[in-house]
Amino acid sequence: MEKILVLDFGGQYDLLIARRVREHGVYAEIFPYNRITVEEIREGGYRGIIFTGGPNSVYDESSPHYDRKILELGIPVLGICYGHQLIAWMAGGEIKSAGNISEYGKTEVTAKSCELFCGIPEKSICWMSHTDYVSGLPDGFEVTAVTENCPCAAMADRKRRIYGVQFHPEVTHTEYGGTVLSNFLFRVCGCTGDWKMDDFIEKTVEKYRRELQGKKVLCALSGGVDSSVAAVLMHRAVGENLTCVFVDHGLLRKHEGAQVVRVFRDRFSMKLVRVNAEDRFLGKLAGVTDPEKKRKIIGEEFIRVFEDESRELGKMDYLVQGTIYPDVIESGKGDASTIKSHHNVGGLPSVMDFEGIVEPLRDLFKDEVRQVGLKLGIPEYLVRRQPFPGPGLGVRIIGEITKEKADTLREADAIFREELEKAGVASSQYFAVLTDTRSVGVMGDARTYGYTVALRAVTTDDFMTADWTRIPYEVLERASGRITNEVRTINRVVYDITSKPPATVEWE
Ligand code: XMP
Repeated sequence: MEKILVLDFGGQYDLLIARRVREHGVYAEIFPYNRITVEEIREGGYRGIIFTGGPNSVYDESSPHYDRKILELGIPVLGICYGHQLIAWMAGGEIKSAGNISEYGKTEVTAKSCELFCGIPEKSICWMSHTDYVSGLPDGFEVTAVTENCPCAAMADRKRRIYGVQFHPEVTHTEYGGTVLSNFLFRVCGCTGDWKMDDFIEKTVEKYRRELQGKKVLCALSGGVDSSVAAVLMHRAVGENLTCVFVDHGLLRKHEGAQVVRVFRDRFSMKLVRVNAEDRFLGKLAGVTDPEKKRKIIGEEFIRVFEDESRELGKMDYLVQGTIYPDVIESGKGDASTIKSHHNVGGLPSVMDFEGIVEPLRDLFKDEVRQVGLKLGIPEYLVRRQPFPGPGLGVRIIGEITKEKADTLREADAIFREELEKAGVASSQYFAVLTDTRSVGVMGDARTYGYTVALRAVTTDDFMTADWTRIPYEVLERASGRITNEVRTINRVVYDITSKPPATVEWE
């Protein structure tokens, strides 16, 4: 398989660069610059190397640098932003501070004819973000693009196939960024784009069929995208030897438990144990109001239930986890030995005795996981499902959690989601929250004293920051009308118009 190495120098866009490369059908893997040696790169079979950006100045002693031999490997290199300056510096060029002519944001770039800019007009818009710039070209290089304030917005040593761009081709603000990357991959590195999800499925199934022959495999299925796709993939590989355990903590959304059973047990004929542990969880949560305590109790009880259940099932050799590539990168910055416990089954590996952990999705991005899920035949509504936190409705019921409150919230939440989906409102995550406020209302001639439900809908790319979704008034009106009519215990509906920050997406 063709591979591109993304050598990370501390930039904020390393994941984005790898994703963009993969969008072109070429497999990319990220390594922090200090976790891979030049010999390992030589042995690694890479078709090309991309140096990422980074916040530093190449002249600072403490800045990330790399062995100059990397430029002599004969593997094409593309440096982006700091990576571009680093190449110039390593190859003997000069870097200067741009002082008060540093450039940020959308900038017009003038490109010369060069294989990297093939198919790109002479003038286009790119995204710049730099304080330093290449002021003196290294031997063998020529300037291939300029902007008004940057005399070397791109450079190339065509003989050695080493390129640098001061701007960011990976961000969508760079008009022809996709073309720059595809030129590098296909024209310079000679890739053909052989990274296909069908191949991934076939190879992964084959690998685990061989490696796990005769082994008993356990999977904690949450019904979320990652664990669902991991489970179906492993089922293809080991069939009857896979047992999935689905813990229903009584804090799931309406019909969620039944849906999971229908899909995995009925449709895929998988061995699925559904543990109805509502009483156990609600018993432990009785009287608890502190948000962190509630989370802890749910997390710990999850492990206890899972332990009890696997004791019943007998010895299991392997545990399947739905870890995906951003989890691996974020927890270990590419360190293969670091295993992040899946959110929803946090801590399981340390308390249970397995021969090993299987993470079939650890090389994939979320959108790739979704593609695999669809190809495996998992229904679209499950694969495209919005995120749902491990502690479930527990973080959406403010104050003490009771069965009555969970049932009330389940109904209101289902109505809100249904109305939003019916109206086709685009939103990244949307749900209802049962606030701890009760207020006075009137129904017919009678006074009511009911719950206040808050509706929450956010628009975001990465959930690190989020904006509240501008839902049309008519949709809010319909949701509010239906909730107060159909859910007896609710007499007031409010809409949460706070962004993140300062609020978080969930209320607890
Ligand atoms: P916050 O509330 O931190 O949420 O802005 C950001 C995203 O993370 C989800 N979330 C969780 N997911 N276990 C999970 O699996 C959790 O404990 C958890 N807490 C928050 C939240 O739904 C949102 O998508």
